[in-house]
This record gives sequence, C-alpha cells and structure tokens, in this order.
Amino acid sequence: MSGFRATILTLFPAMFPGPLGHSLAGRALAAGLWLLEAQDIRASATDRNRTVDDTPFGGGAGMVMRPDVVAAALAQAQDGRPTIYLTPRGRRFAQADAARLAASSGVVLLCGRYEGIDQRAIEASGAEEISVGDYVLSGGELPAMVLLDAVIRLLPGVMGAAESAIEESFSAGLLEYPHYTRPADWCGRAVPPVLLSGNHAAIAAWRQAEAERVTRERRPDMWAAYSAAIASPAPVP
Ligand SMILES: C[S@@+](CC[C@H](N)C(=O)[O-])C[C@H]1O[C@@H](n2cnc3c(N)ncnc32)[C@H](O)[C@@H]1O
Repeated sequence: MSGFRATILTLFPAMFPGPLGHSLAGRALAAGLWLLEAQDIRASATDRNRTVDDTPFGGGAGMVMRPDVVAAALAQAQDGRPTIYLTPRGRRFAQADAARLAASSGVVLLCGRYEGIDQRAIEASGAEEISVGDYVLSGGELPAMVLLDAVIRLLPGVMGAAESAIEESFSAGLLEYPHYTRPADWCGRAVPPVLLSGNHAAIAAWRQAEAERVTRERRPDMWAAYSAAIASPAPVP
C-alpha cells in the first residue's frame, strides 16, 4: 500500500472524487492505494453567513477569497506534505512533477474560485503555484483532478504491466509512437508492415523513429531539449 494521501481544499467538496472515482484511479481508490479527503473551505469561515470572499483592494471586477478563511482551512490540512495552489499564474504542470509527487507521501491541493485567493495566504502557506495550461478555468477543482490523475497512475501498484508508463509520452523526453490494433487492414488503411513482422529489434527501431518524428514535427521545444540531452548526456554520478 502506497499510503498516498490527497487533501483537496475546495468550496465544492461534492465535486470529488468525480472522475477520479472511475477507471484506474477509482479502482486504486477503492483498493486503498490512495486516500482522498475533500475539505470544505467554507467550514473555516467564522461569520454567521460563512463568508469566504470579499471585494478586491484597489477595485476591479469580481471577488477574492479571504486570507484568514483560506489560512484556517490550510492549517487543518498541512502536515508536511507538499502544498499546491492551482492557478493559471503558476508554473506549468509537467510529467516530471507527477513523478516527483507520486514519490511523496501525498499532497494538499488548494482550489481557488472567483478571481482567486488573496496572495498573502498563498505566500504564508509556502504553496507551490501550478497551472495546468495557458487558459482560465472557473475553479481549481478540474486542475486538481488533472494533477491527481497524472500522479495516481504512477503510484506503485496502480498500473499493471499492461499499462506500463515506461514508454509513454514525456517519460523519455519524447512524445509516444502511434498505436495500432486489429483489424490489420481497416477501411483500406493498413497497419505499418513492420509491426506484423515479429522482428522485435525492427519494431523497437521503428517506434523510436516514429517517436522522434512526431516530437520533431509537433513539439519543437521538446525536440530541442531532447537533441541537446543526446548531444551531451548528463554524467553518471
Ligand atoms: C477564474 S480563475 C481566476 C483567474 C485569475 N483571476 C487569473 O486571471 O489568473 C478561478 C480559479 O480557477 C483556478 N484555475 C483557473 N485556471 C487554471 C489553470 N489554468 N490552472 C490551474 N488553476 C486554474 C484557480 O484556482 C483560480 O484561482
């Protein structure tokens, strides 16, 4: 058992587990390979109306989540696990982050709503600020699910051999090669003949070449980093 524990601080705890209760992550949750706690930030509000937000200093549209309420919620959850605030202002989430978090004991995820959270609460919490992409969603709950899905499938025992992550996109700095299954000829489209050859070395070489081609064509940024790493490999410690 991995013991990975995810605590989500949210104004909408009923959204969880949502998609994470299905398929691979859901089976792992049911098997106790990870633990999910959705904590209602509103429960930390102290006034009669359970107010969690207020108007922004300096003016402008929208509401901002109050630092005192968010800090009180965080105080209940933080116990040494990494804390992450999901925000479009954060560093872009990547497979390497998923691998790093999968090796930890769990994570505390803070989901914003409205215009976001008062910056002082974020700074005081020591949270890492992470974005799932260059677009604005209406809340941090979907980003938290995206992050967790990427992490959970890497936890020990979650993926069987049939679902190995070793050759997946990003794991070796390349996008993955294309996949094919039966029928070998579909609507006049044939599977690349090498895949039917039974020649494992030739298949591996074809897959490597395809992974390189698709990365070069679609992700020049990844291709440049991969080429540079091949040209000067990191020294073995
Ligand atoms: C409407 S957004 C606030 C956007 C903020 N005013 C801005 O322009 O950066 C409300 C919340 O959704 C979440 N969110 C929205 N887009 C996100 C993204 N791309 N990555 C991670 N979290 C996001 C954050 O938690 C954010 O506090």
